[in-house]
Amino acid sequence: MNKTLSIVAVATACAALTSWAGEARGKGGAVASRSPLATEVGVDVLRRGGNAVDAAVAVGFALAVTHPSAGNLGGGGFMVIRLANGDIVANDHREKAPAQAHRDMFLDGEGNVVPGRSTASHLAAGVPGTVDGLLTVLARHGTLSPREVIEPALRLAKEGFALPADIAAQFAGYRDAFAPYPASRAKFARPDGSAYVAGDLFRQPDLAATLERIAEHGRDGFYTGRTADLLVAEMARGGGLISHTDLEDYRSVWREPVHGTYRGYDVVSMPPPSSGGALVVQILNMLERHDVGSMGHGSAAVAHLMIEAERRAYADRAEHLGDTDFYDVPLAMLVAKNYARHRFADFDPHVASKSADVGAGDWLEESPETTHVSVMDAAGNAVAYTTTLNLGYGAKIVVPGAGFLLNNEMDDFSSKPNTPNSFGLIGGEANAIEPGKRMLSSMSPTLVLQDGEPVLVTGSPGGSTIITTVLQVIVNVVDHGMNVGQAVAAPRFHHQWLPDRIRYEPGAMPTQTLATLRSMGHVGLQQTGSIGDANSVMRVGGVFVAVSDPRNAGGAGGF
Ligand code: GLY
Repeated sequence: MNKTLSIVAVATACAALTSWAGEARGKGGAVASRSPLATEVGVDVLRRGGNAVDAAVAVGFALAVTHPSAGNLGGGGFMVIRLANGDIVANDHREKAPAQAHRDMFLDGEGNVVPGRSTASHLAAGVPGTVDGLLTVLARHGTLSPREVIEPALRLAKEGFALPADIAAQFAGYRDAFAPYPASRAKFARPDGSAYVAGDLFRQPDLAATLERIAEHGRDGFYTGRTADLLVAEMARGGGLISHTDLEDYRSVWREPVHGTYRGYDVVSMPPPSSGGALVVQILNMLERHDVGSMGHGSAAVAHLMIEAERRAYADRAEHLGDTDFYDVPLAMLVAKNYARHRFADFDPHVASKSADVGAGDWLEESPETTHVSVMDAAGNAVAYTTTLNLGYGAKIVVPGAGFLLNNEMDDFSSKPNTPNSFGLIGGEANAIEPGKRMLSSMSPTLVLQDGEPVLVTGSPGGSTIITTVLQVIVNVVDHGMNVGQAVAAPRFHHQWLPDRIRYEPGAMPTQTLATLRSMGHVGLQQTGSIGDANSVMRVGGVFVAVSDPRNAGGAGGF
């Protein structure tokens, strides 16, 4: 896989319409995902006449096989879809708290959060939503049968594929985390127990059997029958809460997407239980009154402006955002232009404000895994799909006999008011644990439209940094005039109110910018590893340009 992202090549005409490198273009459609094999599955579906929804669903199932740290059957996700007829819909298949969940389930007798209980235990798992979501979306807006979109994933699981170096290295890196769970140990090591290396054939027979049951029986192949029995038996073995009733009752939900505008573009993204759409729109609203383009990418002025907007928006997230089925989220207020004006009225272009000096915790060093897929087709369908197990490999627990990983999404709830979760995010009542409630997310599958036509599909993994990653891709395109390759590749920074800290990738903050930000009073400037993985597709005239984020070895394809 040639993964060098050539910005120049994106900007210039490209003769070959098919490619599996980090960028690709095509007139028939295009796909960008974290996995070259999954991208290939999606492009094949498009090539055979499927629409972007068929392709996104097929990629979703394939990612469960080829990108196991985040692709999943045992997790959840959000899909924002612009249909060829102009309608825009959003499917929420976020995990839910099991019926037996309760507010203090991650606290000890003294009321303190028990380290690891919400991330590395059977209690960490929410009721999975992915299978219901993908099949529901397919039934309503796809053209192919469940078997047709699942078959490529099934084949990859049954026949195996050559392990890419980065995935083999992940398996070795997570060895200790998998160790307590026999099915996890068995799945992610060679049959003799030694570590997989790049190029080894990776076969997943138990996962193939689960996919076969889903292909044969639809959602019943997962939420009832043998798959459900295996999952519930594992819950009993490990003290988890998910019951047969939780599984049978799980349904994905169609939600009204969040809609904003930015300098004449429409921005459409995921509503609660994600905070992503609301925050992307809210921050863009705060930026809109400032001439970001002429301030210049990488300048202290732009960084300061964006950080101050992010500080205020993430503070609102902690206070106001949660599952709207359980909590009265003031969504219309948060995304209104006049609210942004009011909220940003105290912005000082020369002086940093201070985040409240409470409750700040460190980010976990664990990789914040989630994964994003972007698809567009020539008929005018566009799909932004973000899916997750939460942290890398979720709870690290493979369901014996079923071959899929349990998520650890319960950590996205606020286990205790003002106590940070794995992403350093805090929350309160709005995101407290309740039976059947969906935990707040930052996933931001997003469409940008011009004159009603989709021009950009984007999204990212990265926990709390998802929102600022998506924001920067949009700002890079709209304000800084970058093409999609440049917009995705450009180094990023992130602020989230608490901790009061600015994380930045190498290259994101020139020396002079850092010095100016410090002189304005910004604190906690911290260079970090990579932020986000914004696999994106942009339409330029009649050509779709797919870009897999150069930070990872993903795949872009078009035809
Ligand atoms: N699990 C990360 C998120 O949903 O934001």
